[in-house]
Amino acid sequence: MPTKEDLQTFLRTRRSVRRFKPDPVPDSVIESILHTATFAPSAHNLQPWRFAVINNSSVKTRLGEVLTSKMQADMQAEGADKSSIEKRVTTSQRRINEAPVVVILCRDKTDVRADTPEEAVMGIQSTALAGMQLLLAAHAEGLGGNWICWPLYAQEATRTTLELPETWEPQAMYFFGYPAEIPQVKERKSIKEIVKTFKPSNV
Ligand SMILES: Cc1cc2nc3c(=O)[nH]c(=O)nc-3n(C[C@H](O)[C@H](O)[C@H](O)COP(=O)(O)O)c2cc1C
Repeated sequence: MPTKEDLQTFLRTRRSVRRFKPDPVPDSVIESILHTATFAPSAHNLQPWRFAVINNSSVKTRLGEVLTSKMQADMQAEGADKSSIEKRVTTSQRRINEAPVVVILCRDKTDVRADTPEEAVMGIQSTALAGMQLLLAAHAEGLGGNWICWPLYAQEATRTTLELPETWEPQAMYFFGYPAEIPQVKERKSIKEIVKTFKPSNV
């Protein structure tokens, strides 16, 4: 049994991995991490998360084209210069092509208790927790993973390109593979900076 120190270390050593070995990831490993992701908590236990798993290189390329063309349009609208747009598009397309496994995380818009903005937020929060759990499960398997926000900027295009059901709303994308880098630890804000504590009044 891992000790609590082992588990804290495990949680603190997950990193966003952005370079992968070309080695394929066995289907059984992907199935296992997806299964673990489903143990995330969810509002009303509605389990609104849905996953599209992409191992196919032509699907990855097509998705990359869709996402980078939106990226290009957004950067042009923001007035970015041609060379930085080209660089970003080329790097992004390379990253998606080189990722051994790409997972799109969606929330099912109909998995809500009521049609209110708060319920929609709860659905998104619940879905994000499954994303976190997926990254941790990948870490447990010795896989590297990276959360990618690009589909948020092209939700409908992502959905139609992958022919996902109409109720699936893309929230995030993940790249998974065996790590080809050991990323630096990104500095964390101190506990003092981010926590407000109310001590018992008799202390
Ligand atoms: C909602 C969200 C969106 C993110 N989007 C991207 C992204 O588009 N590209 C990327 O390389 N990393 C992305 N990341 C990863 C963060 O950059 C990373 O988690 C952060 O820098 C801390 O590093 P660490 O994960 O190694 O601790 C995202 C993370 C989250 C939670």
